[in-house]
Amino acid sequence: MEKLTGLKKIKTAVFISGTGSNLKNIISFSKIKKSPISIDLIISNTSYAKGLMYADQFNIKKRIFSFKNSNISEKKLSILLKKEKIKFICLAGFMKILSQGFIKKFDGKIINIHPSLLPKYKGLNTHSKAIKNKDRFAGCTVHYVTTKLDSGKIILQKKVKISVNDSISSLAKKVLRREHKLYPAAIIKIFN
Ligand code: GAR
Repeated sequence: MEKLTGLKKIKTAVFISGTGSNLKNIISFSKIKKSPISIDLIISNTSYAKGLMYADQFNIKKRIFSFKNSNISEKKLSILLKKEKIKFICLAGFMKILSQGFIKKFDGKIINIHPSLLPKYKGLNTHSKAIKNKDRFAGCTVHYVTTKLDSGKIILQKKVKISVNDSISSLAKKVLRREHKLYPAAIIKIFN
């Protein structure tokens, strides 16, 4: 990954589908001096994503692409990313699978946060799987996005202890709190 030169931050887009707590956290991080990235664009696959409110709150450009026809959406998205000079993409609760062509175009420049200790529990329902299997630890992973789902090189990972009283939602909350520390740390690790 390219090193930072001078004070210029790397123009970054964040892709979301839902609440956007990671998005909000990454935006706050991007504003501090030691952040190598600036958040210049927010992409969602749905207008219902609550996280879109952070675009207005922080005055960041937002665009919605339905991905109903992912070919068309990705073509339009690629044109927009080029126009906005976006060099890096953070997936943050983005629940659409990007095509091989799109991922190859941004090879090594898309990262994702996943709520499990990968390679364990790729895909959905990670917390219920961890509880059902009586795992002692859950966790979260920031990894590069490759054409194989949740399988790219791991950048950083953090464990979260599962207690006997944990429900799916209490565990999800605990993991999410940890995600908010992990994502900025992973971004720093990539560019330093
Ligand atoms: C996070 O827990 C993230 O790890 C997960 O969705 C949540 C989004 O929360 N991502 C995935 O499951 C991707 N496969 P947020 O909208 O509050 O950031």
